[in-house]
Amino acid sequence: MDTYNSIQEIRKVISSIKSEGKTVAFVPTMGALHEGHLSLMRIAQKEADVVVVSIYVNPEQFGPNEDYDSYPRTLDSDLEKCRKEGVDLVFAPDDKIIYGSGNKYLNIGISELNIHMDGGSRPGFFEGILLVVNKLFNIIKPDVAVFGQKDAQQYRILNQMVDEFNHDVKMVMGPIVRANDGLALSSRNAYLSDEERTIAPGLYRSLQYIIKQIQDGVKEPGLLLKHQISELEAKGFKNDYLNVFVYQTMQPAETLKSGEKYILAGAAYLGKTRLIDNIIFEI
Ligand code: PAJ
Repeated sequence: MDTYNSIQEIRKVISSIKSEGKTVAFVPTMGALHEGHLSLMRIAQKEADVVVVSIYVNPEQFGPNEDYDSYPRTLDSDLEKCRKEGVDLVFAPDDKIIYGSGNKYLNIGISELNIHMDGGSRPGFFEGILLVVNKLFNIIKPDVAVFGQKDAQQYRILNQMVDEFNHDVKMVMGPIVRANDGLALSSRNAYLSDEERTIAPGLYRSLQYIIKQIQDGVKEPGLLLKHQISELEAKGFKNDYLNVFVYQTMQPAETLKSGEKYILAGAAYLGKTRLIDNIIFEI
């Protein structure tokens, strides 16, 4: 496994791989790798001949009061995990390589997909993601890119970017990998205290409870959602959002219709740690 931080060098290697007729699957990450990330690498291996992983904590997607400085950075053990998974190439650039020191004259805007959920709660978050993934796609030029359902709004927005900017990339979504008690794996779970860690699976349990009620016939989930928010707050969560959205538009859904794809998504704080989770469903 080779690791590169220079754009020119990784471009050279990838173009020589492509000239042999091989296909490239790409898994972008911010490191602090866990089983969720590794599951995407395994999907990538099935999708193409060569797997490229990027490890880069993108400053543009963190707000001024967010955890950019404390975000876990574990490059050595991340590289070891990639090696064990049989990853072929790792791209681990620094800020200067990705953003240079020049002025930035362009801002990519996102319309309605960015109003609710994390787009609503974290101003600038998806603009920063769109920017860096756009750059990474132009550097790696993957045939396939693999992202997790854990960040479903990210996937939805990036899918739109691929369509509207004509990136020649097949987008693949990997399922959410969870701990045995249901908590979605996340690099940020490392911030949880022991006590918070025992409460944390409550978010997924709430999602499961709501889905069960919807499967049993609830078509207007408003009240149900309100009750579950109170339940979560009673357990010690501080609710950010918990709602059902139309998957295609990422707009809140008040009345559920059969044949439409929805996402039940929640974000809540336990202490300083922000947890997110979701279930995609149709009725
Ligand atoms: P990061 O949070 O490191 O996540 C990298 C990829 O791993 C994302 O596609 C994310 O959805 C996926 N992932 C995280 N937890 C997962 C889990 N429990 N199960 C399955 N997949 C999981 O997402 C980012 O980084 C950044 O925004 C990035 C796309 C790299 C741009 O900076």
